[in-house]
Amino acid sequence: MSSTKNLKNDHITIRRVRNIAQKCSDNLYSNKEVPLEHIEIISVIIEEFVDDFHHGKEEQAYFPETKEKDDYAEDIHKFLIEHELGRRIANMLRREITVLKENRSKDKDENKCY
Ligand SMILES: [Fe+2]
Repeated sequence: MSSTKNLKNDHITIRRVRNIAQKCSDNLYSNKEVPLEHIEIISVIIEEFVDDFHHGKEEQAYFPETKEKDDYAEDIHKFLIEHELGRRIANMLRREITVLKENRSKDKDENKCY
């Protein structure tokens, strides 16, 4: 499989993750219950698959090979900004999940009868 085909296959997986994340977001905004574990799994996929693995391949191999071709330099700059934005969103999501889990743990401790 070519490197380009490999990256395109990653994009198919990333769109699936995006659709699942969107569904979770829609449910949250509709005040429907979304298990915290589902959001946690999505955040791990974003950090480890999307950012570390896929964006790593693009930034370390694909972008350096293509930036000199035609007008790709401007597109690559936009992609790098998108990657950084996604990285920051993933960090915020992970941080908020940690806070939520700590608060739930404290609530459980405070409600103990012993
Ligand atoms: Fe990509």
